Amino acid sequence: MKNNLILAIDTSCDDTSVAVTSGKYVLSNIIASQTELHKQYGGVFPTVAKQAHKEQILPAILIALKRAGANWQDMAAVAVTQGPGLAPALEVGIATAKRLSSKHQIPLIPVNHLEGHVLSVLAQPKPQNVPWQKLDTLLPQTKNSLSILVSGGNTLFVKTVKIGKYKVLGQTLDDAAGECLDKIGRMLNLGYPAGPVIEQFAKLGDPKAVPFPLPLTMTKTYDLSFSGLKTAARNLLEENGVLKPLEKQAVYDFCASIQFAVFRHITYKLNKLLVDHEFSQIWLGGGVAANATLRRMIRETIRTNAGRVQNPKLAVPYSKKLCMDNAAMIGVVASYKPTQKTDSEKIERRPRWGLGELKG
Ligand code: KG4
Repeated sequence: MKNNLILAIDTSCDDTSVAVTSGKYVLSNIIASQTELHKQYGGVFPTVAKQAHKEQILPAILIALKRAGANWQDMAAVAVTQGPGLAPALEVGIATAKRLSSKHQIPLIPVNHLEGHVLSVLAQPKPQNVPWQKLDTLLPQTKNSLSILVSGGNTLFVKTVKIGKYKVLGQTLDDAAGECLDKIGRMLNLGYPAGPVIEQFAKLGDPKAVPFPLPLTMTKTYDLSFSGLKTAARNLLEENGVLKPLEKQAVYDFCASIQFAVFRHITYKLNKLLVDHEFSQIWLGGGVAANATLRRMIRETIRTNAGRVQNPKLAVPYSKKLCMDNAAMIGVVASYKPTQKTDSEKIERRPRWGLGELKG
């Protein structure tokens, strides 16, 4: 039996995820969400996240192996998110991966979480009627593609020079887009995370009802900023320092308007990028990439720049699970990395680890 599978772990934030992958194929992708635990705080509480990761990680590993129909003899390596992310949360995944690597005498491959989101579009579901031993081992390659990563922790434009070598072309200077939606959703009492609720409510509202500013139109860079939209929302919702309750339709209109404002800012900067550069293709990843309006607005922006992108079809992950934080994307990245023996004890968490720092 070939042992070419990877057991991948991601504990970068508030989801405990374990996956089994073979090259680009996903055999299992378990995500134990902590959303219910963090709801009461309106955001992720680091020590609560750490404790929950500790409790959930071993069951998640067992389920991931079972769903994949694999065992430890089939594993070529353990992959783990080294950063960026919440330090106490990263620590749990890394400590577990080190133990597994040493116990089963297989290499440990540290992975950058953002590289996971970039390559998440390359992941493929395992074809049902093909046993994993017979899957092709060919890994897709790309050059000069543009990734738009939009999540709760990050919002950035990244050029993949080649797989493993990245150039950040622009990024948020303050809040991430998902964080902005979550914070405004909190003002509207929509629970946490608010992004998916805002998407649903926006369908019932008028995106032009509340006029929000378009940020950073005077700057030449491709950087983004969402904190001004958050302040504008607070100013509109507050009366004498107190949040005023809105009628149902007004909430729908507010959701449609703020969602439109956040996505218009992203597509305004995307348009600028496409006018100034040529790319082979465009990829979209991160939790907010699940949003159908964002996808539509990005597709429209690509269409208005026809000819500047070789393959104009926007690539998105094959399932919404692949958009959010998940370990399958970490396994896919690991399959591109050499598996020579590294001193796994030396691998430490890197809470701040930019994509531009990868050597390639
Ligand atoms: O990538 P992700 O799972 O993890 C973090 O980066 O934390 O992204 C979570 C973010 C949250 O801000 C959530 O509100 C947002 O993605 N999100 C959405 C949607 N689904 C998740 N935002 C807008 N529309 C959605 N459908």
